[in-house]
Amino acid sequence: MEIIEAQNYDEMSQKAAHLILDKVKRTPSLVLGLATGGTPVGTYQHLVKDYQENQTSYRHVHTVNLDEYVGVEKDHPTSYHTYMKDHLFNHIDIPIQQTHLPDTMAPDLQAECQRYEELIENLGGIDLQLLGIGVNGHIGFNEPGTPFASTTNVVELTASTREKNACYFDNPFDVPKHAVTMGVSTIMKSKQIVLLVSGKQKAHILYKLLSEPTNEQVPASILKHHKNVLIIADREALAELKQNC
Ligand code: F6R
Repeated sequence: MEIIEAQNYDEMSQKAAHLILDKVKRTPSLVLGLATGGTPVGTYQHLVKDYQENQTSYRHVHTVNLDEYVGVEKDHPTSYHTYMKDHLFNHIDIPIQQTHLPDTMAPDLQAECQRYEELIENLGGIDLQLLGIGVNGHIGFNEPGTPFASTTNVVELTASTREKNACYFDNPFDVPKHAVTMGVSTIMKSKQIVLLVSGKQKAHILYKLLSEPTNEQVPASILKHHKNVLIIADREALAELKQNC
C-alpha cells in the first residue's frame, strides 16, 4: 500500500487525474471503476479539462460504477447515472453504452446484481478502481459489518450515510434507504485501486484504517490486503496519522 500526500484537495484531484490519464493512454481499452460523491468531483473536472485541451480519447474505455440508489430513476437529478453524465460522461468522447452502473429499476434486483458481476467478469475485470471512503469506513456502499466475501448486492444504507448524503436531496426524507453496490470482494478483484481521501472529517477513519487490524467493522481495512493500492490523501486527511506516528 503506497500513500501519496497532496497539499490540498485540488492537488489530490490532479494527481488522481494524471494517474487515470496515464492509464488510459497506455491501455486505450481500459476498464475503469468509478465512484461518485464529493471526493472525485475534482478528479473528473481535471479529466474534462484535459479532454478539452488535449482530446485524450475514451472511445475504447469501459467504465463500471460502484453503486446506485434503489428506487431513483436513471434520469432523476439525484441518481448516480445523472451524476456521472453531469460530471464526466457528457464531456468526453466515451460511448454511453460503454458506461455501466447497476440498473436499480430492474424488476429483479438479485438478478441485476448477478448480471453486474458477470458484466465485470466479461469485461475482463476492473483495471483501475477509483474509491472514496465514508467517515464510517465504507467503500462503495458496503457499510460496517459487511462480510469481506460480499459480491454485488442490495444493501441498506446506515442512518449516518443517509444523513450525510441528504444534502444532495431537496427533502432529507427522499434519501433512499437502499442501494445496489459492488461487494467488497468485487472491489478487491480490481487489478489496481486508488483511494482518494480529503479533508479533516476523513482524518480519523484514515488513521483507523491504517493503524487498526483489518476487521469487517471498517470495510476499507481490507484494502491493506490488496497487492496494488495507492492512497492519495491531502494534508488534512493525513493529520491524525501524522500526529500519532
Ligand atoms: C460513491 C461511494 C461512496 C463514497 C463515500 C465517500 O460511489 O461508493 O463509498 O465514495 O461515501 O463520499 P464523499 O466523497 O462524498 O465523502
